Amino acid sequence: MEVIVMQDEAERVGLVADRIAGLLAAKPHAVLGLATGSSPLPVYRELIRRYEAGALSFRGASAFTLDEYVGLAEDHPERYRHVIEREFTSHVDLDPAAVAGPDGTAADLPAACAAYEEQIRAAGGVDLQILGIGSDGHIAFNEPGSSFASRTRIKTLTAQTRADNARFFGGDADAVPHHCLTQGLGTVMEARHIVLLATGTEKAEAVHQMIEGPVSALWPATILQHHPHVTVLLDRAAASRLLLADYYREVFAGKPDWQGI
Ligand code: F6R
Repeated sequence: MEVIVMQDEAERVGLVADRIAGLLAAKPHAVLGLATGSSPLPVYRELIRRYEAGALSFRGASAFTLDEYVGLAEDHPERYRHVIEREFTSHVDLDPAAVAGPDGTAADLPAACAAYEEQIRAAGGVDLQILGIGSDGHIAFNEPGSSFASRTRIKTLTAQTRADNARFFGGDADAVPHHCLTQGLGTVMEARHIVLLATGTEKAEAVHQMIEGPVSALWPATILQHHPHVTVLLDRAAASRLLLADYYREVFAGKPDWQGI
């Protein structure tokens, strides 16, 4: 796991955008994994900026989102299908038909989950997955106790996650759905490169556990210790509980430029 602690947001975002640009240049039909929530927004803004400047095209690419609320009306603005479109995909030349997410409105939710797994598989799997992390250590919506082998399925959100996400629902945690569909930890782990972004002290404990804690279902993100290519980008606050922070800084400072992330 590569841990990069960088206070400057533009620098952190630049590294991720460069990596995505490199991927698209090498593989125009790349499959991107997109997270919703606040953490990836600066990356999406930078990708939009580069697209508008003519430096980047997503024309051949496709994208899969991680998760979706269950129980929100089709036109609810916080459905992740709408969020990702509003924040990112509608602003670039990604074909709208090539952007998929689990269908939280399906009458048969298990069938919708199985179909989503099949869709990701048929696309050849995710080349680069962007992730955030919950303050309780979830990735996608795999809450504590999730199986490390899990696939896309229905989950119940923790009270902590519903409180954390209340800011998207007018500050009302009761308005946040209790259920969601989410890619499983087993699904996420199949992405070829995982880039996780976290900022702020409220993420510091989860980040410490993910990188330095014992691998445990209590902190689902710890499964990433078993992935061969994970890049974690942190600001100082999110890195504030790391025991080996100085070492991670030293490693990154000594890294040759050609290596990228
Ligand atoms: C969103 C997702 C979640 C978020 C996490 C952090 O699609 O899967 O795991 O990444 O809850 O959210 P933010 O970035 O809003 O702090």
